[in-house]
Amino acid sequence: MSQTVPAIRGMKDLLPGESAIWRTLSRVTESAFASYGYQQISLPIVERTELFKRAVGEVTDIVEKEMYSFEDRKGDSLSLRPEGTAGVVRAAIENGLINGQTERLWYSGPMFRYERPQKGRYRQFHQIGVEAFGPPGPDLDAELIFLGQRIWKNLGLTGITLQLNSLGTAEARQVYRKVLIDYLKQHESLLDEDSKRRLERNPLRVLDSKNPALAEVIEQAPSLVDHLDEESAQHFQQLRNILDAAGVEYVINPRLVRGLDYYSRTVFEWTTTELGAQDAVCSGGRYDDLVPMLGGKPVCAAGWAMGIERITALMQSQQCEIDSMAADVFIVAVGEGSEQQALVLAERLRTEQPQLKFQMNMGGGSFKAQFKRADKSGAAIALILGEDELAAGRVGLKNLRSREDQETVDVDQLAVRLAETVG
Ligand code: HAM
Repeated sequence: MSQTVPAIRGMKDLLPGESAIWRTLSRVTESAFASYGYQQISLPIVERTELFKRAVGEVTDIVEKEMYSFEDRKGDSLSLRPEGTAGVVRAAIENGLINGQTERLWYSGPMFRYERPQKGRYRQFHQIGVEAFGPPGPDLDAELIFLGQRIWKNLGLTGITLQLNSLGTAEARQVYRKVLIDYLKQHESLLDEDSKRRLERNPLRVLDSKNPALAEVIEQAPSLVDHLDEESAQHFQQLRNILDAAGVEYVINPRLVRGLDYYSRTVFEWTTTELGAQDAVCSGGRYDDLVPMLGGKPVCAAGWAMGIERITALMQSQQCEIDSMAADVFIVAVGEGSEQQALVLAERLRTEQPQLKFQMNMGGGSFKAQFKRADKSGAAIALILGEDELAAGRVGLKNLRSREDQETVDVDQLAVRLAETVG
């Protein structure tokens, strides 16, 4: 026998059991997106490396250490997308989607980061995200948060905490940068190599270091919220007012700086205590400077993205209701010629009742064996097709949920009877 070829570390197969959760998540998010006026956009998985360097930032973990970059045959440097926002902005500029109106877009798909795999952290993972272009005010930030909340509620998820912070404008961050560098220099001997290197080039990134040895230094660092410019402080206060009025709970987290450089003003993260270290299930914020940075006409923007694997794990742990993928009707066929007639009948029923799912018994078997399969399939109804009944134009119908006695139904009445029973 040949050796097996294993999957790549940190890249998971999505098996049918989990697919049902993903389908539920897709259904719930798509219906919420529609009700807030978001339209789907689907983009290539590969972009020019330069796009991510410019958007996410050269001195970030993602760009410095985590990108899957390679040269194509012409020698151009390309990367598997580590996140979705940069590509959406590129596509919006390139396709003239930003034209004075509010543009609301959603996307989903795989992202790639060469991180150390652990529970909830993968090298290929999947996001569902939204990006909105246009409104500069806190109304957009608030609506994005409402959208997230609605999705948690519709999925039946609880215990998700909203963490909120403001990073101010680029100018305000310049002022804060100096204060932070001074502070970090005083504690330089405690910093690790990464942080020392980032001290001058991107000191904010030191604040999202996950190194526990730095926790104390980071905890004591001066806060960005205390150095906000007047307008950003107002924007943040107005956002809080809207959230308070709507009864949305949040925690102000002055240490929330996010791992990507494009943010300005509002940033947020929804976290859970149920998944261990990888506790962020959805994150985002405002990025008013990114469109012009990538060559577009200046326009404000904000968005968020959720990690599908983490939401899936949370839905499993909270036993949320999942759309059933099981058949509605299992067809048992016993006796000479019944199987062929059963196949033909199933086709007819699929045409007449397209909303119902039918599963045929295949490969024969005794009545008992087939009935066992019907039970195991999770179907609500078993149809029993025997030679004698079929000859008389009738089939047996057994409700596998209520366990009522089997009834006999005319083939001509069957489609209607099934719709009544399952519907
Ligand atoms: P992010 O925080 O890097 O933001 O990722 C968003 C979400 O993706 C996280 O909250 C987490 O649930 C999930 N995630 C991130 N990395 C992994 C991983 N290695 N394995 C599993 N799940 C992961 C962004 O990507 C921004 N583009 C979000 C955004 C959209 N901001 C504005 N618009």
